[in-house]
Amino acid sequence: MEKYGQMKFGTRSIKAGEAPDHATKALNTPIYLSSTYAFDSTREFEAGIVDAMSWQPGACLYSRTTNPTTMALERKIASLEGAEDAVITACGMAAVNLSLLSNLNAGDHCIASSDIFICTRTSLDDILPSKGIEVTKVNIIDGADIEKNLRPNTKVIYLEQLSNPRLELADLSDICRIAHKNNVKVIVDNTFLSPYLLRPLEYGADMVLHSGTKYIVGHGDALCGTVAGSKELMDSVRYYNDNLGTHISPFNSWLALRGVHTLHLRLKAQSENALAIAKYLEARPEVEYVFYPGLASHPQHQLAQKMLPNGFGGMVSFHLKGGYEEMAAFVDSVSIPPIATSLGDVQTLIHPKQHDGNLIRLSVGCEDIEDLLKDFDQAFSKI
Ligand SMILES: Cc1ncc(COP(=O)(O)O)c(C=O)c1O
Repeated sequence: MEKYGQMKFGTRSIKAGEAPDHATKALNTPIYLSSTYAFDSTREFEAGIVDAMSWQPGACLYSRTTNPTTMALERKIASLEGAEDAVITACGMAAVNLSLLSNLNAGDHCIASSDIFICTRTSLDDILPSKGIEVTKVNIIDGADIEKNLRPNTKVIYLEQLSNPRLELADLSDICRIAHKNNVKVIVDNTFLSPYLLRPLEYGADMVLHSGTKYIVGHGDALCGTVAGSKELMDSVRYYNDNLGTHISPFNSWLALRGVHTLHLRLKAQSENALAIAKYLEARPEVEYVFYPGLASHPQHQLAQKMLPNGFGGMVSFHLKGGYEEMAAFVDSVSIPPIATSLGDVQTLIHPKQHDGNLIRLSVGCEDIEDLLKDFDQAFSKI
């Protein structure tokens, strides 16, 4: 909501985009479970079609295009990202693909980070090239590598902040400077950090997206995707969202709205816990290497200190000395974190990654740190 626009992040997490229901004064945003909307006359219906098809604020015609619960979430995400507008999608992969499709056509070229989420890799390696879009992978923390791969038909630089699973932090200001000098758009998947820790649009990125399934929903109970940027770019994303049918359900929008109310509180606790765990792991003799931007040993630690003043996030990756057997013995011995993929939940998750050189990825939750460290102590005693 406009009146919260100048307020701080936590206030906007709770208040922005929402207001008591017009009809009933219900304080919480209702879940509008309706696929369609009624009009009083033919003329009103005709005008409603025009408004809804051009996404006028508040215009509801059919819930694949607009739904009031989802619209509240769109307004809140736009406010948190510092964006003119936002679009909500069924899941993070819909957000990834709509952001790419809305900026790339056959004959165009895209530069993307080589350390990237596996399904995004499928889009970049298989789906886009099969539709005539060329993709070059680069080391995204190396500006020279980006510059040397630019072509006259390059339209997009695509990266994750932090990268999955190695938790690399790119110098966004530098990348946006290189991109904009060459008329190229920058799209950032900011899933691992959340808008509380980093808002890529402030660094000049053109679009920011999230697997909202992770920190935005925060409780592991719904799939969600978010994209934010200028109204012009979001209209293009909406065009694809509406016509490809990648809309979120109103119930999942509501779960995301409820989850995002505590985004700032969760991320503060998760960042504190993750830093304590990263330091603990680094001091363990069984551990070979820890990736965490809050550690002085992280290659971009100085940049992280500048870019992430509110915390370094809840993701920690590490290698144990030894190989698969040591990794499996540790992972199988922890008792608090379940072995599970995904991330960003209030509970800690542990993800063994055999295909990434037996890396162990922790999505650190909000449990009491003493209990987590005691659990890791007893797991280390088993290997
Ligand atoms: C960085 C990143 N982007 C996108 C996605 C896809 O999100 P979703 O599972 O909500 O489709 C994930 C999922 O793990 C992810 O880690």
